[in-house]
Amino acid sequence: MPAMGRLTLRDVNLSGKRVLCRVDFNVPMEGGVITDDTRIRSALPTIQALSDTVLALCSHFGRPKGKRDPKQSLRPCAERLEELLGKPVTFLEDCVGDSVAQAIAAAKPGDIFLLENTRFHAEEEAKDEAARRAFAEAMAAPFDAYVNDAFGSAHRAHASTYDVAQFLSPAVAGFLMEKEIAQLHKLLQQPREGFVAVLGGVKVDDKIGVVRALLAKAERVLIGGAMAWSFLKARHYETGSSVCPPESVAAALQLLEDPNLDRSGLVLPTDCHMRNRWGSFQHKKVPVTMIRRGWSAVDIGAETIARFTAEIRAARTVFWNGPMGLFELPLFRDGTMAVAQAVAECKGFTVVGGGDTIAAVEQAGVGDSIDHISTGGGASLEFIEFGTLPGIEALNPA
Ligand code: 3PG
Repeated sequence: MPAMGRLTLRDVNLSGKRVLCRVDFNVPMEGGVITDDTRIRSALPTIQALSDTVLALCSHFGRPKGKRDPKQSLRPCAERLEELLGKPVTFLEDCVGDSVAQAIAAAKPGDIFLLENTRFHAEEEAKDEAARRAFAEAMAAPFDAYVNDAFGSAHRAHASTYDVAQFLSPAVAGFLMEKEIAQLHKLLQQPREGFVAVLGGVKVDDKIGVVRALLAKAERVLIGGAMAWSFLKARHYETGSSVCPPESVAAALQLLEDPNLDRSGLVLPTDCHMRNRWGSFQHKKVPVTMIRRGWSAVDIGAETIARFTAEIRAARTVFWNGPMGLFELPLFRDGTMAVAQAVAECKGFTVVGGGDTIAAVEQAGVGDSIDHISTGGGASLEFIEFGTLPGIEALNPA
């Protein structure tokens, strides 16, 4: 099926061509060791389908802001990819310029390269469109065709995700991109009745657009995690030392005071698990009206867990992004684990997106019971908000 009216790998024959393929290898890494290779494994169908081309994969990693930083090199991803494919992957120290042009010119079909982090060049993300386009043109120069399989980065209109598509033909979606779009498109087609969205994580201001979009699409929007504390603060509750960034509180306030917004589906926690960070370490479960100075809410409480999980289990459609609390600490993971379990038990169509949320699903061991686990966090949220993304729009129409 065409991805949002764009050409995909199924529509073209790239055999023998020199192909630049944008992937999202922005994987979690600690001390040069990849801690979750989901994004690399998810790109394998596209990489394997291009096995009779000269294939160069490119990606960003981290946020090096235009500077070369060995700690943000993609080299460990080349090594992991080699293990997964069982064949050599040549790592090139740059993503543009003579060294790339020479390697690609000398290569034969079947050779695979991984190019160095596109964000080592400031032009990749430049606001100046001419600078970005010139960089994209230089990146495109050694190649015949472009495949974008980086759904996780498709909300970024950067040189390697957006502009480069104008300099290569065909410019098509890879299989991961196609699958992600199809599943999220299906989500957006679901009826409002029985649609439950669960949002967590810290930044309300980043997610405020999607909260609005979801209030229109979903019957219930359950807010947990640090996002919830910002909403409570905007409602003038005492939130003690809970994480409530001022921009998030301002964004929550704007949403709560919008006279044109139907907020009937918005559900906030009624209780929480809080801890005292100062002095002797204490923690207790209290109604949200009892958060005190010096204490911070770090998980949703038992009553909220019961309400949220009942809504989720009974839903016909569920979309979940963002943990319910500090789930990396065993003491404060009850809310997130209960939500993961409930999503897995829901008999309806279930979609989960975002790095932390995927980690929570894996920790709960319920990944197999979820219909679609999106490799995109910000990308899945923006797709829900806008119905498309710049990286999709840039590809050739079907
Ligand atoms: C992600 O991890 O969400 C994507 O790779 C995009 O990364 P970015 O937020 O640094 O652009």
